[in-house]
Amino acid sequence: MMTPLLETPADYAAVERLTFAAFETMELPGRTRTDEHYLAHIMRGAAAFVPELDFVGEIVIDGDSLNPCGEIVANIMYTKSKIVRPDGGEIETLTFGPVSVKPELHNRGLGAEIIHHSLDRARELGYGAVIIVGHPRYYPRFGFKPAGGYNLTMPDGAAFDAFMALELAPGYLGADGGEWYEDKVFEIGQAAFDTWNKTFQASLLSRQRMSLIKDWNPKQTALKEAIARSDRQAVTL
Ligand SMILES: CC(C)(COP(=O)(O)OP(=O)(O)OC[C@H]1O[C@@H](n2cnc3c(N)ncnc32)[C@H](O)[C@@H]1OP(=O)(O)O)[C@@H](O)C(=O)NCCC(=O)NCCS
Repeated sequence: MMTPLLETPADYAAVERLTFAAFETMELPGRTRTDEHYLAHIMRGAAAFVPELDFVGEIVIDGDSLNPCGEIVANIMYTKSKIVRPDGGEIETLTFGPVSVKPELHNRGLGAEIIHHSLDRARELGYGAVIIVGHPRYYPRFGFKPAGGYNLTMPDGAAFDAFMALELAPGYLGADGGEWYEDKVFEIGQAAFDTWNKTFQASLLSRQRMSLIKDWNPKQTALKEAIARSDRQAVTL
């Protein structure tokens, strides 16, 4: 059972590692870099970020109910976006992403759970609509429809299958249409990304080395081998 909780600063590094691992598995033709973990990192500082909808999904992997040892296995983040109407008027929309699930746990409903949870909360908070660019086979199950059906386009006038909208309040999007703009935080500068990512990758490598060392316990291995040989002297070592 996964528990969706609001993200706290203590979760930031784990969420960025989760985001990197999840998006590394994503197949997208023409993709040149995996940068969603950096997006998660900078998004929290953006004015458009919605902390009330920044959820982590935690599962207990060890311990018991009195002393649980949880692991963050899912995350979803939202920012405010907007529609600019043909007459220049604007309406606020929400956009989610990155949304990530630990690769080893894909296809078990965890993504659906955290997406439903956050959409319900967004509705409760009074937001009118969510607009995303995402997998056109995945998001319709949450009620997303092609945004072109609401006469919406991207800033360059394009509307395609992956460009989808969900009304949280019926009728919120209306029929006037317009151009949809996501927040500028999505415009990631290559140099800033490269600098930050260098440190991120180094810390990832050092964590991997540490966990290899932790798992390699020579005394434990010697003990297991001695038990297998019934070598009493070694067992009492
Ligand atoms: C997308 C993601 C969050 C879904 O989480 P999940 O827990 O694996 O998904 P669920 O168990 O709720 O749903 C599984 C369904 O999603 C579908 N799905 C998962 N990734 C998909 C993709 N890239 N394209 C289309 N469908 C996808 C599966 O085929 C499965 O479909 P089915 O129910 O018809 O069999 C997860 O796969 C992930 O972290 N992917 C990498 C990052 C990513 O792509 N994020 C979203 C960017 S828009």
